Amino acid sequence: MTRAGDSTMRAVFLGAPGAGKGTQALRLAESCQLMHLSTGDMLRQNVREGTELGLRAKTFMDAGNLVPDDVIIGMVEARLSDGAGSSSWILDGFPRTLPQAEALDKSLSGKRMGLTHVVFFKVDDDVLVRRLSGRRTCGSCGAIWHVEFKPTAVEGTCDKCGGDLVHRSDDRPEAIGQRQQQYWDLTAPLLDYYRNSDRLVEIDADRPPEQVFESLVKVMN
Ligand code: AP5
Repeated sequence: MTRAGDSTMRAVFLGAPGAGKGTQALRLAESCQLMHLSTGDMLRQNVREGTELGLRAKTFMDAGNLVPDDVIIGMVEARLSDGAGSSSWILDGFPRTLPQAEALDKSLSGKRMGLTHVVFFKVDDDVLVRRLSGRRTCGSCGAIWHVEFKPTAVEGTCDKCGGDLVHRSDDRPEAIGQRQQQYWDLTAPLLDYYRNSDRLVEIDADRPPEQVFESLVKVMN
């Protein structure tokens, strides 16, 4: 692990859909003033704005498939060289395939940098389905809620900003199974990629969010 001499953090969060990467990344980013770069959020923003990238990505996302590597790698590289490259950040949802992981390593080593943390959020499959089907996301501020595990005071309204809550189109049963399959086929091999280079830290994410966060803070220190 190439932890910088200063306190700079360049972290990757790995885990199956619904493992809690976004929940923990938002909280860590807020408490440590890191930039939270979620490829899922970037893609959904492109879809909302009707960009060419968004139009291309939407079909893949709605079906629960990964968006092609060339689209994603270009999007992340643009973001990292767009001011984020020199600061501390968490990549949430990227990389998700071996070509993406290799492209990230290559791009960082070209800047004489490396990842400082690679964190794997481990949760069993049966828990994940319950988490995804009950998730609701604020359409305005992006806060993540759950009808059962983290309900809002008023159903359908964000406690933080009063925005309307959205049920993601890929959180419907038809897409959830496909997302899990894509995870096992294409993303799980990354665990060995990082394990073999001694960069992987594993957290038991099948615990209440506060306990997961405590473990996360420990591994980030
Ligand atoms: P993305 O948005 O990244 O979705 P994902 O990886 O499938 O991850 P999720 O956002 O579903 O889960 P999460 O782990 O963040 O869990 P969360 O914290 O929300 O990607 C969406 C799509 O975009 C992909 O399918 C793909 O098409 C495309 N895409 C994105 N990146 C790509 C890439 N690199 N390459 C190719 N395509 C890409 O938590 C889930 C729920 O559980 C919430 O309701 C939360 O409140 C609850 N919860 C969280 N933690 C706990 C806990 N400890 N206990 C109880 N409940 C909890």
